[in-house]
Amino acid sequence: MSLHQSKPHDAAPLHVAGTARYVDDIPTPTGTLHLAFGLSTVAHGHIDTMDLAPVRAADGVVAVLSADDFDEMPDCSPSVHDEPLLATGTVHYVGQPIFLVVATSHLAARKAARLADVSYTEHPAILTYEDALAAETHFDDGPRVWTKGDVDDALHMAQHRTTGQIDIGGQEHFYLEGQAAMVLPQEAGDMLVHSSTQHPTEIQHKVAHALHIPMHSVRVETRRMGGGFGGKESQGNALAIACALAARATGKPCKMRYDRDDDMTITGKRHDFRVSYDVGFDANGVIQGIDFVQMCRCGWALDLSIPVADRAMLHADNTYHLPHVRIESHRLRTNTQSATAYRGFGGPQGILGIERVMDDIAAHLGLDPVLVRRANYYENGQTTPYDQVIEDSVIDDITARLVETSDYIARRAAVDTWNAENPILKKGIALTPVKFGISFTLTHLNQAGALVHIYQDGSVHLNHGGTEMGQGLFQKLAQVAASTLGIDLADVKITATDTAKVPNTSATAASSGTDLNGMAVRDACQTLRTRLTTFLCDHFAIESVMFDNGMVMAGAHKLSFAEAAKLAYEARVSLSSTGFYKTPKIEWDRVAGKGRPFLYFAYGAAVSEVVVDTLTGENRILRTDILHDAGKSLNPALDIGQVEGAFVQGAGWLTTEELVWDDAGRLRTHAPSTYKIPACSDRPDVFNVALYDVENIEDTIGKSKAVGEPPFVHGASVFLAISNAIAACGDTYPALNAPATAEEIMNAIARAKS
Ligand code: MTE
Ligand code: MOS
Repeated sequence: MSLHQSKPHDAAPLHVAGTARYVDDIPTPTGTLHLAFGLSTVAHGHIDTMDLAPVRAADGVVAVLSADDFDEMPDCSPSVHDEPLLATGTVHYVGQPIFLVVATSHLAARKAARLADVSYTEHPAILTYEDALAAETHFDDGPRVWTKGDVDDALHMAQHRTTGQIDIGGQEHFYLEGQAAMVLPQEAGDMLVHSSTQHPTEIQHKVAHALHIPMHSVRVETRRMGGGFGGKESQGNALAIACALAARATGKPCKMRYDRDDDMTITGKRHDFRVSYDVGFDANGVIQGIDFVQMCRCGWALDLSIPVADRAMLHADNTYHLPHVRIESHRLRTNTQSATAYRGFGGPQGILGIERVMDDIAAHLGLDPVLVRRANYYENGQTTPYDQVIEDSVIDDITARLVETSDYIARRAAVDTWNAENPILKKGIALTPVKFGISFTLTHLNQAGALVHIYQDGSVHLNHGGTEMGQGLFQKLAQVAASTLGIDLADVKITATDTAKVPNTSATAASSGTDLNGMAVRDACQTLRTRLTTFLCDHFAIESVMFDNGMVMAGAHKLSFAEAAKLAYEARVSLSSTGFYKTPKIEWDRVAGKGRPFLYFAYGAAVSEVVVDTLTGENRILRTDILHDAGKSLNPALDIGQVEGAFVQGAGWLTTEELVWDDAGRLRTHAPSTYKIPACSDRPDVFNVALYDVENIEDTIGKSKAVGEPPFVHGASVFLAISNAIAACGDTYPALNAPATAEEIMNAIARAKS
């Protein structure tokens, strides 16, 4: 049985050898053309004139397309139709595609794209929260408000009260493989699309729409991505559409990949948030009432901002019971890249808001922040602000165990002693919990399909609707198939996601890839096993059959799985099956903010200790301990890998990764030279990660829990440990903003001392 066993990533040997194939590695047919976009250089304005003659005259250029070449501009948006492929008159951000170059090489296309002579009439650009609020640029018809209980009364009656605010920066996905697509024209106008996408069906849908052909005429294949992290849910649409249009116009295969600078300049990032709070609490720090205002900068187009902002609201409680609560959410349109999905999908921003509140309350009362947190934890039976009953909370137990294994209490005391003795290097320690809701909040997305074939030699071809981006989904699903059929993992062939095999797939997102596709794969394999069983019972005149370890025990007959498959084939038994799954129990009214949006929650906690140089703002993570709930893990090695990677990415978000736009709306951090993701040397000196090995109470695949996004939140422990170190510099609460760059740390130290 390969389920619940640690197995390496199926493509690990290929990754290491450099032979794993990405879109850019697919051998291109002779005559393949290469595409690049010409980009807007102003944040908001009108294109008056665009002289493309120098672009057309450049070496290797085959065609140049702009709005003038279209009767109807194709749209790239995953939500409403507000993202023209190329700007039609008005430009909305620096980096918006305004024309498309088709050339004989990647370099020729990129060079030519710089040669246009464009003049604009500039309009004032909306860049900041203040600009957007003043101009009331809200998406979603103004702010959204969800309430529970009577907040005003609770705040009024509370013994203690404090207010505060935290600014939380966005984040560049920095997937190692940039956005890429290649389109091969087929007979009769059909298109074969290779795309680095988390959402092949969306690519199929958008390409079909742009070309005015049915979805059956477009086939999308995705073998793997070199990372997606949410940045390839919708951001690949433009490249695939552009390639399809160019392929139709020229009859040639067309390929497009963004160079890193273009990728960072053109595509959306994590939403930055400003969270303000007004909280009332008792002498133990137990929250009586809380009023949150969340603002997020959505960029120029809607993209996925509504569900992202909703998820931030849905995580404003994190692991804490809030009896009286009001959450107001402003989704603001700005003249910047259209912010998009990024690991956690707004959840981490919502959670960081209340984690700041916990820290502030503890400072206010002079209590240990862990005590304040635990005093506010949910008990099973209590309800969330959106009225879902908490039934599966294990956060108290996780916290108790982690406090023990991380030696939190003694180390807290040691940190205090250190800080009393050392004026320059200050240490800090913090524990942060996570509760993350699992399911897409758009209910109909919670479905998945699979297609499984058994060949006459007993080998198995596995296909499903999920995509592989490094998270190990394919290996887990191969384990599901192998264990359901009782065969060796090596006998299961993992194949590329393909819209011609499994249709109408959801994005591989919301951490639900394994939950959804795992059940669909099991369904397909069970159908096949039942067919084989029925056939063998009939064939051998027996009552039952067992499948184990590549063998089939049919009464007194012992066959290999291959022999059984061959027998069944010769008896004309169908050895191919689809599988399907839809998540039960969920229902959700997003306007009212009430219902059961999530099938269950994933939990975990982290303790980080840091040291900060108060003269320079430099800092290091000395030690991190994490206990994470992946249910009954399908593959502990892969799950621990997800927890480690998510933690480092979360810590990067809140410390070194800073996005800077200048006053003209230009992103100044558009390359690794200016945008600092964590390096190997930035990981904790001591790093202890363990899984909380307890079954999911819900009926999920193998009783496991989704693991992709929840551990991202553990990065918050680093941020609050830095805040804790800064607090040792003075008597004022430092109100650290994210990211805690050296500069922001120095500012916070000044605040602490004031
Ligand atoms: N892990 C790797 N290595 N690469 C990725 O791009 N994306 C994350 C997470 N882990 C990602 C990753 C995000 S944003 C999500 S939603 C989940 O994986 C998606 O995969 P799953 O649903 O199979 O967990
Ligand atoms: Mo993940 S942000 O849901 O792709």
